[in-house]
Amino acid sequence: MKGQYLDEQAYAAMLNQDLVLYEVYEIKRPESAGELMHGISIVHPGKVGDEYFMTKGHFHTVLDTAEVYYCLKGQGTMVMETPEGDWSVKELRPGCVLYVPPCWAHRSVNIGQQDLVTFFVYPGNAGHDYGTIEQQGFRKLVVERDGRAQVIDNPRWHAIER
Ligand code: F6R
Ligand code: ZN
Repeated sequence: MKGQYLDEQAYAAMLNQDLVLYEVYEIKRPESAGELMHGISIVHPGKVGDEYFMTKGHFHTVLDTAEVYYCLKGQGTMVMETPEGDWSVKELRPGCVLYVPPCWAHRSVNIGQQDLVTFFVYPGNAGHDYGTIEQQGFRKLVVERDGRAQVIDNPRWHAIER
């Protein structure tokens, strides 16, 4: 997660605590088109500075592959964006189905006090492109302001050549 949180000092100060921010458990299936990868993602509660714990986030390597998330527990948001510059931040709460359409990068953020637990399923051949987000970040960040979650522009976002 180095470089992903806006407050680099707060991030550095937390490193010696060896904290687990999130966990992913996946049923391994062959990485082929007819398969469905599926599993559970658990984002723990907490913040780095005033930015909520979140997943690293990614595009799928096969860009036009979608994903379905089903929220089992907790309170969160899914931050999404396309290479063309569209963005969207959607609520995650228990019982909600969240559809990530083809070509949208996605990151889940825990804005609550308990674990954010989601079930996910996506095509076996999708793959994960972490590098693009590592380099350019997401356009939007979710931070706490006056005790509430707020979506702000990422001042460090910058486009890279794809
Ligand atoms: C798979 C998917 C989820 C995430 C998980 C952790 O395509 O979107 O299973 O992998 O929520 O997030 P990342 O992979 O971004 O660290
Ligand atoms: Zn995904």
